Amino acid sequence: MADKKRRSTAWFGPADRDGFVHRSWMRNQGRPSHLFDGRPVIGICNTWSELTPCNGHFRELAEHVKRGVYEMGGFPVEFPVMSLGETLMRPTTMLFRNLASMDVEESIRANPMDGVVLLTGCDKTTPSLMMGAASCGLPTIVCSGGPMLNGKFRGGELGSGTSVWQFSEDVRGGKITLQDFMDAEAGMSRSAGHCMTMGTASTMASMVEALGMGLPSNAAIPAADSRRKVVAHMVGRRIVEMVHEDLTIDKILTRQAFENAIMINGAIGGSTNAVVHLLALAGRIGIELSLDDWDRLGRDIPCLVNLMPSGQYLMEDFYYAGGLPATIREIGDRIHKDVLTVNGRTMWDNVKDAECFNREVIFEAATPFKESGGIVVLRGNLAPSGAILKPSAATPELMQHKGRAVVFEDIEDFKARIDDPDLDVEPDDVLVLKNCGPKGYPGFPEVGNLELPPKILEKGITDMVRISDARMSGTAYGTVVLHTSPEAAAGGTLALVQDGDVIELDVEGRRLHLDVADEELEKRRSAWSPPDQPMERGYYKLYVDHVLQADTGADLDFLVGASGAPVPRESH
Ligand code: FES
Repeated sequence: MADKKRRSTAWFGPADRDGFVHRSWMRNQGRPSHLFDGRPVIGICNTWSELTPCNGHFRELAEHVKRGVYEMGGFPVEFPVMSLGETLMRPTTMLFRNLASMDVEESIRANPMDGVVLLTGCDKTTPSLMMGAASCGLPTIVCSGGPMLNGKFRGGELGSGTSVWQFSEDVRGGKITLQDFMDAEAGMSRSAGHCMTMGTASTMASMVEALGMGLPSNAAIPAADSRRKVVAHMVGRRIVEMVHEDLTIDKILTRQAFENAIMINGAIGGSTNAVVHLLALAGRIGIELSLDDWDRLGRDIPCLVNLMPSGQYLMEDFYYAGGLPATIREIGDRIHKDVLTVNGRTMWDNVKDAECFNREVIFEAATPFKESGGIVVLRGNLAPSGAILKPSAATPELMQHKGRAVVFEDIEDFKARIDDPDLDVEPDDVLVLKNCGPKGYPGFPEVGNLELPPKILEKGITDMVRISDARMSGTAYGTVVLHTSPEAAAGGTLALVQDGDVIELDVEGRRLHLDVADEELEKRRSAWSPPDQPMERGYYKLYVDHVLQADTGADLDFLVGASGAPVPRESH
């Protein structure tokens, strides 16, 4: 049974001193001899952590993966990697996405694994694990942890994040009491799983399926549903077969797979965060993907899915309605049908018979939920390298807008002044936030969906144009221009905007323009200096010195590309 070419054989195969060391210490966990006979060794990369509540059920999920691996004659080995809990980590999990990806990459390469299962859930755990695994190139399959059950509160439904932003504005606008707000906490997060809106976690779980990296229905099955355990079990079975077939990750993550993912992101009204994560992932696998691909491929894709934050329903409803397979089938004429997926079948084979069971949740392509689901890429003197906007979450009347800038130099400046009744702001103004990009914060936080000033909210106005170099939570909404590149801290034009400047947004024309003469901008540029960094050592320094701009995925420059799985030297 031993396969000389199998990686793990280099550790467990030799009948010598080194082989003794590799096997003997593993036996202290009660492993019998036959597990070292050359069968595929499957790493189960686990992001379980009590500090990552969305992934809190992953130790149990890993056990179900192991059942499948054993069934197919494999040898499962579970290992932990850095876990990124979106709600607790400071200053922002995005600062650590690339660090976690390094942990994943080096953990895989340094250990005797022939194939890898990635257990992912909360926002950054999905991209970081895929990025790390892509740089290693082994057979890889993703098992998402699944969304929470629908939030419930006083007879209504609550959506993770989205309802928080809504309630928070309602408190500030005097529509509900603070006690009402506090009472909603427990009802929102009432089961295992990640955010159950079509936020970043659900979007990235959908991207896993859209890229062909997960089994059909991976994205939507709730964490609490017993069928999530079945998916884990089947993932365990399938990864062993993938090792035998040498179905490596680069055979799945092709240019066409990324193009499918971009189109499917439009169809689900997915998070803007998918842009930066897929660009970074493509960079790891050597696929040339650009911001313009997002605009081009998503331009005519209708949003079919009526889920918060763009719509009304939640992931549990999405699963019962048919989930991603039924959605992909609806846009079947547009996608690349023949791309290979991890189950060994093509994308179209996986979805061609998928049924929709609720047209309130998944609309037909001929009569979509919203005409435009894609991500718009804006350019102009304010964003020479690009900025993005999600039309399905924006207000149609604001997509063509000209307004006076109200500028905040950083997020602290914004927090200090936004509630000030004397703030000079009108509904037609444009809120501008600087220094929240990858280098500027540092870490590229989700603060781009700036709260509106109370004096505006009190007029019953719920949206204004907002522009920043930050990201936005996938659960947020509004006419929000994000990822402006180059960012302010890298000397982008955004750094030069001043109160009272006029900004033009033209979504149809893909234009973002600062109406200030070039000579004046040059004058301001010569007076500009980059902001101080809060930390000058450790990972912060590594990150700030090497992070790329948002338009190419905000990876670290030296992580772009892959090294494969060979180990350069061996010291035992
Ligand atoms: Fe973990 Fe939203 S906080 S997915």
